Amino acid sequence: MNESLSGLKFFVRTFGCQMNENDSEHIAGILTQAGAGRANGPEDADIVVVNTCAVREKSEEKLYSYLGRLSGLKRKRHFLLGVAGCVAQVRKADLLKKKPFVDFIVGPDNYLELPAMVKNAAEAPSVMTGWGHDWMEIGAEKTVRENGWSAFIPVMEGCDNFCAYCIVPFSRGREKFRPLPNIIEEARSATGAGALEVQLLGQNVNSYRDPESGLGLAGLLDRVCAEPGAEWVRFITSHPKNFGDEIIEAMVRNPKVCRSLHLPLQSGSSRVLERMNRGYTREGYLALAGRIKAGLPGILLSTDVIVGFPGETEEDFEATCGLLREIRFANIFSFRYSSRPLTDAARGPDDVPLEVKRRRLVALQNLQKTIQVEINGSFVGRDVRVLSTGPSVKGGGRFTGRTEGSQVVNFDSASDPTGRFVTVRITGSGPYSLHGTGSGF
Ligand code: SAH
Ligand code: SF4
Ligand code: F3S
Repeated sequence: MNESLSGLKFFVRTFGCQMNENDSEHIAGILTQAGAGRANGPEDADIVVVNTCAVREKSEEKLYSYLGRLSGLKRKRHFLLGVAGCVAQVRKADLLKKKPFVDFIVGPDNYLELPAMVKNAAEAPSVMTGWGHDWMEIGAEKTVRENGWSAFIPVMEGCDNFCAYCIVPFSRGREKFRPLPNIIEEARSATGAGALEVQLLGQNVNSYRDPESGLGLAGLLDRVCAEPGAEWVRFITSHPKNFGDEIIEAMVRNPKVCRSLHLPLQSGSSRVLERMNRGYTREGYLALAGRIKAGLPGILLSTDVIVGFPGETEEDFEATCGLLREIRFANIFSFRYSSRPLTDAARGPDDVPLEVKRRRLVALQNLQKTIQVEINGSFVGRDVRVLSTGPSVKGGGRFTGRTEGSQVVNFDSASDPTGRFVTVRITGSGPYSLHGTGSGF
């Protein structure tokens, strides 16, 4: 690849999930390798890449309002504007018609082509959204990480599940698995460079199979944990449908795997789960959560919930609330259903009225808040290990970080602990965070 971009500055803005964030690290790596340097923001950039998320209507709307701002900026000074990621993949050339000030469109499987695309885009707009294997070839040498202490390592991409509401199988294509040696090599390189945490990424991480040996996620966890360096290992996101007991067993025998698990529920009503095409029932999920909690005492579970899926009745919604009470998640991400193009559910009516969706979301979040107040309250008085991520956004000379269970902790510290493990004595808590005093690292 010879497309030298030296002398040019780039800026990447990320709108999506962890895989999207990791893709932005690849985009930065690829542009850096081609000779470009980092800009501080769109104001001083020659190339602006917007890495997009299509999963909900709101994510797409946020993108369009950001593009509106960039188009204003473009009228004042020249730069090349590219749209990358999941909206680029599903909207393709239509985006150029709707937003003619965009210079190039690049889907998640085409980032290695970026230097050439940037060059071509200076002449005429270009679009690349083919399915390929680019993603498999991107390793540590083409990754510029956001921080040195926590490394995202992709292990698979895409999804074959086709949940009725979800656009991801269309924006990321079918499941593709990265060869085990490449994963280990990248983990080694990241921990060698000082990463304390390794986060294995995939839309459906527990369907991982090494293409060569057939080794699954449990074996992968063994191999990654055997590497010296990383003290915390996480994997996101798991699908309850194929979360086998062998993964629980691998977690039990590998204490480096954080006692924390994100296991998207979506709904607590078997009737809705069936219509969502989730492949498990309320009872199945409950039993799985029970096995996980029994095998890994103290584990904190988190989840995703959609309210107002087409046809969701008050009774279905109550079933979801009941499950939240029973399982007691430490954190939930909850969303109002929005219809997405190409999905099965989009073929039928979006028939739960907006006010009902809003009311259910508020009720669900209020319920969850009371649960979180109790769970977080039980940490007061304890010493917890925190991976510090930097100064607290609230200022005041305080710092912030995450526990093994992914709880946010704000704490005082005599010196800057960013990027290190700190022991924090928890002195207080709220529904969304803990706080305390750091003592040594
Ligand atoms: N791969 C992950 C989920 C990716 S999308 C998994 O399978 O769990 C993240 C979350 O967005 C989903 O878990 C779901 O709760 C939510 N989501 C997806 N499509 C949605 C839609 N059309 N409307 C509202 N929420 C949606
Ligand atoms: Fe979307 Fe379902 Fe695949 Fe998750 S498992 S990415 S929710 S289709
Ligand atoms: Fe969004 Fe694409 Fe991730 S749609 S959630 S950025 S896989």
